[in-house]
Amino acid sequence: MGVRDSLLAVLAVSCLCLQPQVLHSQEDVVCNSSDSKALLDLMSNFESPIDGWGLNASANCCNWPGVVCDSSSSLGLSDGSSGSGRVVELVLASRKLAGNLSDSIGKLDQLRFLNLSLNLLRSTLPESLLHLPNLQVLDLSHNKFSGPVLESTNLPSLRVFNISKNSFTGSPPVRICENSTGIQVLNLAVNSFSDVIPLGLGNCGSLQNLSLATNGFTGGISEDIFTLGQLVQLSLQENSFSGPLGSGISNLTALIWLDISTNRFSGPIPDVFQNMKKLQYFICQTNGFTGSIPPSLSNSPSLRFLNLQNNSLTGTIVLNCSALSSLVSLDLGSNNFNGPFPEDLPNCQQLQSVNLARNKFTTPIPQSFKNFSSLVYLSIANSSLSKLSSALRILQHCENLTVLLLTRNYFNEELPGDASLSFPKLKVLIIANGQLTGSMPQWVRGCTHLHLLDLSWNRLGGMIPSWIGDFQSLFYLDLSNNSFVGEIPKEITRLSGLIHRNLSMMEPYPDLQLFMKRNESERGLQYNHVTSFPPTLDLGSNYLDGSIWPEFGNLKNVHIFVLRNNFLTGSIPHSLSGMTSLETLNLSHNNLSGRLPSSLVHLTFLSKFSIAYNNLSGPIPKGGQFLTFPDSSFEGTKLWWDDHVPPSPISQNLPRPAKPAMTDRNIGMTIGVAVGMAIGITLGASRIGNSCLYLIIKFCNCVTSHH
Ligand SMILES: *[C@@H]1O[C@H](CO)[C@@H](O)[C@H](O)[C@H]1NC(C)=O
Ligand SMILES: *[C@@H]1O[C@H](CO)[C@@H](O)[C@H](O)[C@H]1NC(C)=O
Ligand SMILES: *[C@@H]1O[C@H](CO)[C@@H](O)[C@H](O)[C@H]1NC(C)=O
Ligand SMILES: *[C@@H]1O[C@H](CO)[C@@H](O)[C@H](O)[C@H]1NC(C)=O
Ligand SMILES: *[C@@H]1O[C@H](CO)[C@@H](O)[C@H](O)[C@H]1NC(C)=O
Ligand SMILES: *[C@@H]1O[C@H](CO)[C@@H](O)[C@H](O)[C@H]1NC(C)=O
Ligand SMILES: *[C@@H]1O[C@H](CO)[C@@H](O)[C@H](O)[C@H]1NC(C)=O
Ligand SMILES: *[C@@H]1O[C@H](CO)[C@@H](O)[C@H](O)[C@H]1NC(C)=O
Ligand SMILES: *[C@@H]1O[C@H](CO)[C@@H](O)[C@H](O)[C@H]1NC(C)=O
Ligand SMILES: *[C@@H]1O[C@H](CO)[C@@H](O)[C@H](O)[C@H]1NC(C)=O
Ligand SMILES: *[C@@H]1O[C@H](CO)[C@@H](O)[C@H](O)[C@H]1NC(C)=O
Ligand SMILES: *[C@@H]1O[C@H](CO)[C@@H](O)[C@H](O)[C@H]1NC(C)=O
Repeated sequence: MGVRDSLLAVLAVSCLCLQPQVLHSQEDVVCNSSDSKALLDLMSNFESPIDGWGLNASANCCNWPGVVCDSSSSLGLSDGSSGSGRVVELVLASRKLAGNLSDSIGKLDQLRFLNLSLNLLRSTLPESLLHLPNLQVLDLSHNKFSGPVLESTNLPSLRVFNISKNSFTGSPPVRICENSTGIQVLNLAVNSFSDVIPLGLGNCGSLQNLSLATNGFTGGISEDIFTLGQLVQLSLQENSFSGPLGSGISNLTALIWLDISTNRFSGPIPDVFQNMKKLQYFICQTNGFTGSIPPSLSNSPSLRFLNLQNNSLTGTIVLNCSALSSLVSLDLGSNNFNGPFPEDLPNCQQLQSVNLARNKFTTPIPQSFKNFSSLVYLSIANSSLSKLSSALRILQHCENLTVLLLTRNYFNEELPGDASLSFPKLKVLIIANGQLTGSMPQWVRGCTHLHLLDLSWNRLGGMIPSWIGDFQSLFYLDLSNNSFVGEIPKEITRLSGLIHRNLSMMEPYPDLQLFMKRNESERGLQYNHVTSFPPTLDLGSNYLDGSIWPEFGNLKNVHIFVLRNNFLTGSIPHSLSGMTSLETLNLSHNNLSGRLPSSLVHLTFLSKFSIAYNNLSGPIPKGGQFLTFPDSSFEGTKLWWDDHVPPSPISQNLPRPAKPAMTDRNIGMTIGVAVGMAIGITLGASRIGNSCLYLIIKFCNCVTSHH
């Protein structure tokens, strides 16, 4: 080997060695060895190492992922080996880090920004962390940190303190601002802090956003919070605050967002909103407020979003729409409002979303609603309304109406069928639980954009028309618990919204609060789209006969398919295995015969299955989800498990009740009530899907009417 070759080899080796540095080079800043040691010590307390950290990767910790150094404090020091860069930022969010946060974090005394959010860290807070002189932003949210937050903190540079969604207990760190006067954001939401909030937060004069949501706080809002004149967002929802809402709240003149929902506040809502000239969001649903809507609230020009749902407010709804010029969303549902239907609402120029459900109005929908051109979403379910025909004739003039919920009203009236009615923009139509008579209304055919149609729990009769198959976007059809007769129109098996995920469905409803869902964030409120409902076809509890079309197998997008409690005959088509998204399949209480097709074992998502009370016989297919179904799925048939020796049926074929549809309807109603109550009870603290919420809304309606 010549000298030249050796030189090349040396070069090649040194290049290889240098490569990591070259790739990640951070302006040649070399890590202070004491910082390097602190980081390694941090890592050794995590349950697994961090990729790219450690002496293998690079001796220079300033090149490690998530580490940012600054050399400005040691400029002029050119001796790279001694180390001149100090760690100023550490971002290790969303890295599945588990284990402890060690006290050596305190050695990083130049640290300004620390983000360890969205990990699985579960120690208590190390004391040294709360004494970092330069720390400006601390984000430990979404971890499993526990224990109390120490009384003594000294973080003079702190601006943002986010420890939400952990398991901290005890008293909240209200004295934190004594040494951290510049805090702007303090987020303690979703922890297990408890008891009355002690005085102390009054020192947080710079505070803009304060969230104490989803903890166990009791008593009133501590008085010194009302001195925080810079506050723009105050989130107190999901605690056990009680007593009156103090009038001191009116001192918070910078407030944009006030959420006190899901607490136990009581007494009247104080009439003190005239000074809160920036307030856009007032969310106080699920409390015990009584009395009427205070005039300063019903005349607020800044208010965009008013949610007073689920309180005990009474009297006539009085809103001054000439003043409420910014109001976009109004939720007054589930109160004790009575008196005439609020006639002035259409004069709220921006108003798009209106929920007045579960009140008791003494007059029907007024003529003034013909002018309600901004209206997009209207729920007036369960509000003692009458005159359905007139209501529809008025509402059809609301040119932007997209979602209409009229459930539990208009009892025993006729669902008008006139083809002259027209709702061209309607995407959601729910007129359920009214015992309405008539047949499938012709005007529904003109609602060509329908995504969701629910006419269940009425007394609609006649045949289901074949035009039902024409809708391009319909993915949720519930005609159950009616008196429809005849064959199921084969056209229904062509519903394209049930065949594939229609992309137009994915488009969200802009600015539309459809159903409310509690989530774990500090806001605690989230509004969901119709598009998250499970694709459903429910024709159960009618008087349908004929057989099950093999073409149902084309409906690949259906999650819930129910034909129970009809008079269907023939065999179960093996092609149903083509409904590959099925989670629920209920064909029980019919006159189906023959064998149970073994192809159904390929329905891998099927979790609820019943073909009980049919004339089926033969072996139950083995495998797939069928291994998980209980015997009751097959009750009242002559089916047997493969390893049983025939004839040893699961149970004898029971005779059908004389009037199956009616009997079963009553059973269904009772079950519905029970389920509704059970779900309702768990609702407060729960985090539930919106399909579930939808059911709750339906069942709650059901509960109220049933008694
Ligand atoms: C975390 O700390 C606890 C108790 O302080 C200790 O038992 C545990 O071993 C530590 N875990 C790690 C990964 O160091
Ligand atoms: C670090 O280097 C040692 C020895 O050089 C080696 O055994 C080890 O696998 C390396 N670790 C990583 C993570 O590369
Ligand atoms: C490294 O940081 C320590 C403080 O943690 C300091 O005393 C030392 O001077 C620093 N070294 C250099 C070379 O900057
Ligand atoms: C911390 O990182 C997470 C995940 O990237 C991010 O969502 C969050 O906003 C960051 N926190 C701060 C204070 O920037
Ligand atoms: C403020 O910092 C000083 C000095 O570290 C400390 O003695 C005091 O307890 C701190 N105050 C609070 C309320 O933590
Ligand atoms: C924690 O709060 C800060 C300030 O509000 C925010 O920027 C950050 O995104 C929050 N962290 C997470 C993970 O949401
Ligand atoms: C503070 O609250 C305001 C008003 O609700 C909001 O717009 C802003 O995003 C919040 N800032 C932080 C950092 O959370
Ligand atoms: C409201 O603000 C005024 C003046 O800033 C102050 O004197 C008063 O104590 C405050 N009220 C409450 C309840 O904090
Ligand atoms: C309505 O409020 C009551 C308590 O006042 C609560 O139990 C119930 O869960 C609330 N309902 C909804 C739908 O939030
Ligand atoms: C309604 O609001 C308008 C505009 O702010 C105001 O002029 C009028 O006096 C208010 N009416 C009532 C009854 O408060
Ligand atoms: C609708 O508005 C127009 C003009 O603003 C008015 O003349 C008409 O009376 C209103 N109609 C109803 C039914 O309120
Ligand atoms: C009706 O909807 C259209 C399209 O979204 C919108 O441009 C228009 O402003 C709305 N009309 C009213 C009165 O809000």
